[in-house]
Amino acid sequence: MYSEKVMEHFSNPRNVGEIENASGVGTVGNAKCGDIMRIYLDINNGGIIQDVKFKTFGCGAAVATSSMATELVKGKNVKEALQVTNKAVMEALDGLPAVKVHCSLLAEEAIHAALWDYATKNNIVIEGLDKPKSDISEGEAEEIY
Ligand code: FES
Repeated sequence: MYSEKVMEHFSNPRNVGEIENASGVGTVGNAKCGDIMRIYLDINNGGIIQDVKFKTFGCGAAVATSSMATELVKGKNVKEALQVTNKAVMEALDGLPAVKVHCSLLAEEAIHAALWDYATKNNIVIEGLDKPKSDISEGEAEEIY
């Protein structure tokens, strides 16, 4: 039911860890499944994400999507990182089972939360970035679980 890429990123996740004095840190959770993801971004003066790390306390799909999401934002500028949506992460992983789609939302929202933290600390506005939720299950339809 999982693609080979999902299994590979789950077994061998990239960019696991923390960044000390990160430019931005984002933590989001999903109260329904109890999973939590934290993303650390190291952004240089030119607005390029030069390093990214994550910690995920969650299911295998959450680990695989965090791993792929960090790979996709690394080396990108802040605006390009916003285009790393959960859909883009799922496509890069050759798909996720329908019941696991919400896990990829955790990755997207954690990146947004880290970018929001970076923007707030630096007093800048990132066009197209809305204030992230700390619990992504808020306002979600019951039936997807
Ligand atoms: Fe919660 Fe996957 S089951 S993130």
